[in-house]
Amino acid sequence: EGDVFKYYTDGEWKKSASGKSVAIINPTTRTTQYKVQACTQEEVNKVMESAKIAQKQWAKTPLWKRAELLHKAAAILKEHKAPIAECLVKEIAKPAKDAVTEVVRSGDLISYCAEEGVRILGEGKFLVSDSFPGNERTKYCLSSKIPLGVVLAIPPFNYPVNLAVSKIGPALIAGNSLVLKPPTQGAVACLHMVQCFHLAGFPKGLINCVTGKGSEIGDFLTMHPGVNCISFTGGDTGVAISKKAGMVPLQMELGGKDACIVLEDADLDLVAANIIKGGFSYSGQRCTAVKVVLVMESVADALVEKVNAKVAKLKVGPPEDNCDITPVVSESSANFIEGLAKDAKAKGATFCQEYKREGNLIWPLLLDNVRPDMRIAWEEPFGPIVPVIRINSIEEGIHHCNASNFGLQGCVFTKDINKAILISDAMETGTVQINSAPARGPDHFPFQGLKDSGIGSQGITNSINMMTKIKSTVINLP
Ligand code: G3H
Repeated sequence: EGDVFKYYTDGEWKKSASGKSVAIINPTTRTTQYKVQACTQEEVNKVMESAKIAQKQWAKTPLWKRAELLHKAAAILKEHKAPIAECLVKEIAKPAKDAVTEVVRSGDLISYCAEEGVRILGEGKFLVSDSFPGNERTKYCLSSKIPLGVVLAIPPFNYPVNLAVSKIGPALIAGNSLVLKPPTQGAVACLHMVQCFHLAGFPKGLINCVTGKGSEIGDFLTMHPGVNCISFTGGDTGVAISKKAGMVPLQMELGGKDACIVLEDADLDLVAANIIKGGFSYSGQRCTAVKVVLVMESVADALVEKVNAKVAKLKVGPPEDNCDITPVVSESSANFIEGLAKDAKAKGATFCQEYKREGNLIWPLLLDNVRPDMRIAWEEPFGPIVPVIRINSIEEGIHHCNASNFGLQGCVFTKDINKAILISDAMETGTVQINSAPARGPDHFPFQGLKDSGIGSQGITNSINMMTKIKSTVINLP
């Protein structure tokens, strides 16, 4: 009580001059769990300055040395998986086992960035001029990848550590410096993760982590002239950021309404298992969660029965007990989810389970016979509620999927690979999974959203490339 976690800049842990703090509410107990510094705009200016200075040196540090430090940070992070996972349990109510998985996955991601980076960045291009009309062979062009400068990384609450390192790893190996603005829920887990980079011995100023109120430093950070690239994962805020940001490359991942199209020949046990995993893991608080099931009428009864049998077995309760369904991140989030459920009830959806809520804890709910006039047919609950829309043709399913303003991922279940490929081609989403629930990983796969789901592509390789620029030197022969 009273202790406020310090922010990190210039290789040191510091208190904000504001004297103010931001409270992190434990979603389970709904009381203040931790406090972090409420940094000021002046402090952000200083952070930007030290990031800028550190980057210049870092860009000159040999690639293999950068890789070595990243491997070191990855190992230290994995060693500290228990205390970091504990923060995730307390701050964002992530089930204990999943919290450990998030940290381990993050360590692996950092190592992979180091390995991938030395390969990608260790190669350049050599071009000659006489392939273009009118030119003799008198110009040799040498091109290679150079860093962008200072990368601003803003991860969301649902993977505060993993979606931070998915930006930090590529940025650092490519020779950039980092300013990290963690989400409020998850900030302390982020600070612990940053301490692992500190222990690994990165140069001071290279990685910085500022905490604070979005209203005070949010726009100030994203519009700061010192920022050379923004990598953001989250919700609607991303749309506002992309409108306000300057002329810097943006990487945005802003949620989805991932559809699960189920054909008549699908293996329904496999589908049911994937709806449970895809729709209800971390209580549906994943951008890649299954957010609408579009099932052919002829197999809908059988599928709903199988899913219901599995929903009945989900353990509901606190994250410390490794329950499947845990409290959602905040009261306002729970209220929003409740609003979607009420709207569906009023418009005649079939409630396969009774709606039940205690505090931020919402019991898993499958809604059958959902129709397009219901909000849940289009909006992202980010909670443990999965709507089922019965369809009479594949076209109807594709049409619903493509009518969404989101286009992150989707999935299709069928034994007919030809149909699956045709459906995948027709779905306007960044990725389509055949016979499995949507997912971002493995983390070197390309990950991107169409439409309102994002800008650019992520995944380790794409992120490294995105966080660099091509630099050419042309040798002109006489
Ligand atoms: O919430 C958005 C994440 O990028 C989803 O990651 O598919 O590994 O859960 P995930």
